[in-house]
Amino acid sequence: MSEHDHATEHTPAAGGHGDDPHGASANGEAVALHIEKWEGIWIRVALGMTVVFIAAITIAALSFGISVPGATARINPATLNDEGNPFATPGIRELAPGKYEVYMVAQTWNFLPDKLEFPAGSEVTFYVTARDVIHGIKIAGTNVNMMALPGQVSTLKATFDKPGTYNYICHEYCGYVAGAPIGHHTMYGQITILPAEGAAETAQVTSE
Ligand code: CUA
Repeated sequence: MSEHDHATEHTPAAGGHGDDPHGASANGEAVALHIEKWEGIWIRVALGMTVVFIAAITIAALSFGISVPGATARINPATLNDEGNPFATPGIRELAPGKYEVYMVAQTWNFLPDKLEFPAGSEVTFYVTARDVIHGIKIAGTNVNMMALPGQVSTLKATFDKPGTYNYICHEYCGYVAGAPIGHHTMYGQITILPAEGAAETAQVTSE
């Protein structure tokens, strides 16, 4: 049915016999749904984007191992200081040359540790949990940007190729003390990346 037929069908003169104006012609045949050209294009764009997003999530989960924290990453915040708990001695562990992991505790209002040092090229896996309230950690210049939650261990890996300093901040508002210069805005730390040349001797593996 042409556009013209469709338009005239519902004038009082042509359609005055009580026929359903939505989806059926006078003789009972189904009328094809009319979609405007641009509406059709946008429907296809939206469907295409949905497919791309689902593919991105699938690839991220299967190829890069990115996933939301699960039950395996839970920890009782009351046990952080217990003997044998990796967060009882927050700091850097060297797994292999150039490969490190960091256990970090976020608490009001600092990070433990708040100073880290690695040689350039280091691959560092961060394990972060919170002792008290919800904090966050963002390491500038890296992909590390995660929540630090009491009861949960958040994990991300970053590779530091360029020597320099990388600040990390708490990006989740976690309170302050009225009148005192302490609070969320003072919660930060700094990573120093040393030139790879001779860094082996100067890199400090801390465990405080
Ligand atoms: Cu911790 Cu904001």
